[in-house]
Amino acid sequence: MAENLIIKGDSKQERYATLLPQLESLVGAEQDEIANMANVAACLKDTFSFWWVGFYRVLEGELVLGPFQGPLACTRIRKGRGVCGTAWAEGHTLIVPDVDLFPGHIACSSLSRSEIVVPLKRGDEVVGVLDIDSEKLDTFDEVDRRWLERLAALMIR
Ligand code: SME
Repeated sequence: MAENLIIKGDSKQERYATLLPQLESLVGAEQDEIANMANVAACLKDTFSFWWVGFYRVLEGELVLGPFQGPLACTRIRKGRGVCGTAWAEGHTLIVPDVDLFPGHIACSSLSRSEIVVPLKRGDEVVGVLDIDSEKLDTFDEVDRRWLERLAALMIR
């Protein structure tokens, strides 16, 4: 892929639809997961101007901060804690329209208002999560879930 993104469309559906094939070739051409996480975080931030986009990896029984774009974030999250640790424990995507209403939400940034967390799986095992925060309420829906789950499936081999 060229080293610049070409994003078309006004709706997020159209924008994801032009982004995903480009990420597929980017990630498909590189074996290193950290390098791929770094570029994917940058491309998602660039395309959608999300407040925070990043990855946490499961390392020795905790989620450990990986490549991200956005403000300073918590370094380690335990299983079952916060939105990330809950998505890890439950093994499925969580969409949180209002983080203040999510029991145990971990506020890395007080400006974050809504969030989506998508587990990264190798087989049935969760090996990390993709976490995206928005500074607006109710940012994420089924369109995000569908495309981000497709993206998550590309990240781990
Ligand atoms: N809000 C997350 C913590 C990670 S930061 O948002 C980057 C959570 O509750 O797990």
